[in-house]
Amino acid sequence: MDIHSANECTRCSLSETRTTVVFGSGSLDAALIVIGEAPGKSEDEGGAPFIGRSGQLLFSLIAEELTMSREDCYVTNVVKCRPPENRTPLAPEIAACAPWLEAQRSMWSGKVVLTLGLTAARAMTGSKAAMKDLHGVPVVRDHLTIVPTYHPAASLRQGPSVVAVMRADLAVVRGLLS
Ligand code: URA
Repeated sequence: MDIHSANECTRCSLSETRTTVVFGSGSLDAALIVIGEAPGKSEDEGGAPFIGRSGQLLFSLIAEELTMSREDCYVTNVVKCRPPENRTPLAPEIAACAPWLEAQRSMWSGKVVLTLGLTAARAMTGSKAAMKDLHGVPVVRDHLTIVPTYHPAASLRQGPSVVAVMRADLAVVRGLLS
């Protein structure tokens, strides 16, 4: 896959409603790779992942728990185009977009992956388990160590208890990076 052609991608019908292909941001050499579900409205308009409210919470937690900034991470999503009304991406959309994630994966030199939410956890670990069982437990797959945690949007909806779990999961990431 030539990543330079990603902006013209029409592999699924999300290309008909997107404003921008949100491919990824940050250095491919980053030690930590952060993977979300799909761009939201702010990302679709701004062209970079996690630049809206979820991103604000996410990167404040990463700053506090890992003393890392957005620029210290490579950030992307399982699906690179915004689903209408921010619905969960459908299985065929995830499958259509998988070669882009695979192309990114082949370029990362980092080995630690933080996934946000169930879509990213399942895509990266291959597990069908629930988030309550997946979060905070590292899974080694294809030379990557994947740590699933909740999506920051869930924390924004559900409050401090989910933030506390995310902090604990980030402590697992901290241990892997040190
Ligand atoms: N939610 C995601 O999963 N990814 C983004 O980039 C923004 C919000």
